[in-house]
Amino acid sequence: MTKRPDLPAEIARRRTFAIISHPDAGKTTLTEKFLLFGGAIQMAGQVRAKGEARRTRSDFMQMEKDRGISVSASAMSFDFGKYRFNLVDTPGHSDFSEDTYRTLTAVDAAVMVIDGAKGVESQTQKLFEVCRLRDLPILTFCNKMDRESRDTFEIIDEIQENLAIDVTPASWPIGVGREFIGCYDILRDRLELMDRADRNKVAESIQIAGLDDPKLAEHVPAHLLTKFLEEIEMAKELLPPLDPEALLNGSMTPIWFGSAMNSFGVKELMDGLATYGPEPQIQSALPRNIAPEEPKVAGFVFKVQANMDPKHRDRVAFVRLASGHFQRGMKLTHVRAKKQMAISNPVLFLAADRELAEEAWAGDIIGIPNHGQLRIGDTLTEGEDIRVSGIPSFAPELLQACRAGDPMKAKHLEKALMQFAEEGAAKVFKPTFGSGFIVGVVGALQFEVLASRIELEYGLPVRFEQSQFTSARWVTGNKEAVDKFGAANKQHIATDNDGDTVFLTRLQWDIDRVGRDYPDVTLSATKEMM
Ligand code: G4P
Repeated sequence: MTKRPDLPAEIARRRTFAIISHPDAGKTTLTEKFLLFGGAIQMAGQVRAKGEARRTRSDFMQMEKDRGISVSASAMSFDFGKYRFNLVDTPGHSDFSEDTYRTLTAVDAAVMVIDGAKGVESQTQKLFEVCRLRDLPILTFCNKMDRESRDTFEIIDEIQENLAIDVTPASWPIGVGREFIGCYDILRDRLELMDRADRNKVAESIQIAGLDDPKLAEHVPAHLLTKFLEEIEMAKELLPPLDPEALLNGSMTPIWFGSAMNSFGVKELMDGLATYGPEPQIQSALPRNIAPEEPKVAGFVFKVQANMDPKHRDRVAFVRLASGHFQRGMKLTHVRAKKQMAISNPVLFLAADRELAEEAWAGDIIGIPNHGQLRIGDTLTEGEDIRVSGIPSFAPELLQACRAGDPMKAKHLEKALMQFAEEGAAKVFKPTFGSGFIVGVVGALQFEVLASRIELEYGLPVRFEQSQFTSARWVTGNKEAVDKFGAANKQHIATDNDGDTVFLTRLQWDIDRVGRDYPDVTLSATKEMM
């Protein structure tokens, strides 16, 4: 990733990112503070929705109400200084899903939140690895420094070792736990002092002139100062300084220490994202890549969300704009369907503004209400036949048979399942042999979620049952070979929700056998959505 000198200013000021973390590390709290400092909300606490569906909400919920559709807080845009931040929400459930993966295809950077007492946890590690696949730049926030936390060097070492990335401190904590008073801002040679009395108050910032500035001693108690000076000396010797290029190519992460709850360290992190974070990047596509500065609009669907209101069957397709300057009412070509769509009702996720905005630029996320025409992976352009690539679909790891409680309702069930498949919530396979459907998911919890949503949204009680199959592979090869293979293995053949042929497997042995007996047929565990 590189800075692109020819980007229009409107595009260059955009920072599109996601926050990744292990549950409980502080993602919601940090999001809330981002919105607070972005002027999108007036008071912290406003966005926190308690209960089972705890997720960050913002003012555009009102817009959803006005429009009668629900889009939840999947993307939020707000200004920070001269920058426009687009924060894309990653799904909160702990079952790792391809939904998360695809969300990360729509951003240019990730903020990784870790808990200062816990360090790198399992979900952080998984999400980090997904970012790594795309060389996504990562900025790290070490949260909850107001509580007992691990030794600073230990935390940095752990990130370096577990995640195999260079870590450079952007700030350095002074004192630990109850004695934590704030941080030294290494990038700007400033002392930031946390205010414990008022959680929403931004820290006091004291400009100093180097580490031997006597002002340090005025603000930092002697015993903390000695330890801090020793540590920072060592840090300078042992740790690399910030290399903006290395940050942009994903090989180095700067780390800020703070406390989201106390609004501490958050502004510095936001400044870091603004100053060093990537601008909208080139999007890989076929037959050619798309550059953000291209005047014509192109974008791709990375997420589809059905309306939560059972009375409406609308869906919202979340589109990341890859290039150009979008204006409401534009006609765009739906490349897969080879059809024009007038985008008259786009939802722009301006967190501060209840009015629908009229325009968007490369880097922004827009929501397009539709009746199912738009699927994940679809590309929209101003006419050119070009398709965004690199949005994968993964073979599910768990399969179950799904039946309607009432056998007369099979058609209804098919419709419901197809909807969830298009949302990306499940894979639906229709076996060529026999009746019923096989549903594939990544985490076991998803079966329960699906069953309750089908009942709630379609009034259709369903049963998920054990299936003899355990996995699925997409079948490709020349038509003759695939047909011959299909005819000889009917019991295993199904079509997926896009009509592509899949081979349902029971054991790894099935896959090995195909490899041996049908050298002209390829079985794959991923499929590109385009
Ligand atoms: P998540 O979205 O990553 O799951 O985390 P969330 O922000 O919900 O934070 C998890 C818990 O950690 C919350 O406590 C939250 O208040 C707390 N927390 C977040 N940031 C800090 C911090 O800087 N310092 C400390 N000490 N705690 C922090 P909770 O008890 O689960 O919820 P609540 O009752 O506080 O709302």
